[in-house]
Amino acid sequence: MQFFRIDKTNPPAEPASDMIAVENVPEDIQVILKNACYDCHSHETEYPWYSNVAPVSWWLKDHIDEGREHLNFSEWASYDAERKAHKLEELAEEVEEKEMPLESYTWAHSESKLSDEERQALVDWANSKR
Ligand code: HEC
Repeated sequence: MQFFRIDKTNPPAEPASDMIAVENVPEDIQVILKNACYDCHSHETEYPWYSNVAPVSWWLKDHIDEGREHLNFSEWASYDAERKAHKLEELAEEVEEKEMPLESYTWAHSESKLSDEERQALVDWANSKR
């Protein structure tokens, strides 16, 4: 199984199109997003060591592909105003209800575990933007 390697090539990331630039995201919110969300919701995925180990690698790759499909911070500039507002609303909801980051991901990525304060900061920020 180890020989079926997943494709780890990230699509090109254009910083100017990223939500962080477009929305002028404050530093503290940037840190939370990068630690907890960017692996699955951007083109800046950092593949962990276990991504070489099948079948975990396939599981991870599926989540990344699906995560990017639903919400891609790297392509934020291409979303129209209505879509941005909708995604921010969903972001606040998912984070508030502790649906995101996916719990299974936080087991292996302790930096992605959010404190209640971090969740609240993210939710407040997302709500202030729409
Ligand atoms: C391990 C990968 C992974 C991580 C990390 C992750 N997500 Fe997700 N996210 C997904 C997947 C897969 C979906 C689609 C399926 C689902 O909703 O469970 C999704 C869906 C979403 C949606 C719904 C979008 C829509 O249009 O339906 C939002 C909003 C979201 N994530 C926000 C976040 C935020 C904010 C973080 C960080 C706090 C985060 N996610 C971290 C994989 C991830």
